[in-house]
Amino acid sequence: MTQPQSLGVALVTGASAGIGATYADRLARRGHDLILVARDAARLEDLARKLRAETGVAVEVFRADLTDKADLARIEDRLASDEAIELLINNAGAALFGGYLEQDGERIEGLIQLNVVAVTRLANAAAKAFVRRGRGTIVNLGSVVGLLPEYRSVVYGATKAFVLYLTQGMNEELGGAGVRLQAVLPGATRTEIWERAGRNPADLDPNRTMDVDELVDAALAGLDRGELVTIPSLLDPAEWDAFQAARLKMSPNFSNAHPAPRYGVKAVVAEPA
Ligand SMILES: NC(=O)c1ccc[n+]([C@@H]2O[C@H](COP(=O)([O-])OP(=O)(O)OC[C@H]3O[C@@H](n4cnc5c(N)ncnc54)[C@H](OP(=O)(O)O)[C@@H]3O)[C@@H](O)[C@H]2O)c1
Repeated sequence: MTQPQSLGVALVTGASAGIGATYADRLARRGHDLILVARDAARLEDLARKLRAETGVAVEVFRADLTDKADLARIEDRLASDEAIELLINNAGAALFGGYLEQDGERIEGLIQLNVVAVTRLANAAAKAFVRRGRGTIVNLGSVVGLLPEYRSVVYGATKAFVLYLTQGMNEELGGAGVRLQAVLPGATRTEIWERAGRNPADLDPNRTMDVDELVDAALAGLDRGELVTIPSLLDPAEWDAFQAARLKMSPNFSNAHPAPRYGVKAVVAEPA
């Protein structure tokens, strides 16, 4: 078999299943060598064997629990020291369903550890390395739920709102330093995430649930198009642009010397003459 020219190493978290495993498949076929991260080493080994055989790229299995500080530090070190890594797919994540009042503190903390702390620390380690090298790409998996408090997935949605902000903020700071950023915001996608969080996947509306292959192919197409934010389901990208424009239109009045007149507050500090 002729070996494709390596495009550099992609480190994919949550690569044992679902969206991460599909990224691994697509990136191997594009010619990236891979480092696959998740807790289930046996599943990672199966995928690695298959991808090596089918594509000829080098695939390394890196077993790690991203809620474990020592494991997380090992991946940060790898991102910092391995010059061959050019792409981070910051994908591992979990959902937490049910009402906010029914959720217990330990599970909330675990979710934030995985969806926020690990994502932020890995993006930070990758960003420092990529800026030093003058190139690299960081893809963070958010969710449309992060835009929808009305969906009543309070903690999960908040973690995903964080991921969007993180990516947009990083892009402001790093975009000029040769580092490419992308936030991918899937809607409902057929993966194990639903069962893992105690939901019956049979309850999903088939007309509003995307196949994982289509989701990842669209996300990669969005990356190729240079999108900072990719919402694979969104039909009209002008709606996203209008949403951003509405936010920025307010921004000149987000910080003023006095409260707005509707609050009826008497000025303590006089206007400068
Ligand atoms: N599916 C959807 O509808 C949907 C929608 C919007 C956003 N997303 C986001 O997309 C990302 C991928 O989700 P998915 O649907 O592919 O979920 P999934 O099928 O449940 O896969 C989750 C992956 O994360 C890994 N993982 C979970 N906990 C981990 C931990 N503590 N340490 C290391 N790895 C861990 C799992 O592997 P191990 O169990 O082997 O560790 C698995 O590989 C998540 O960030 C999710 O929030 C999904």
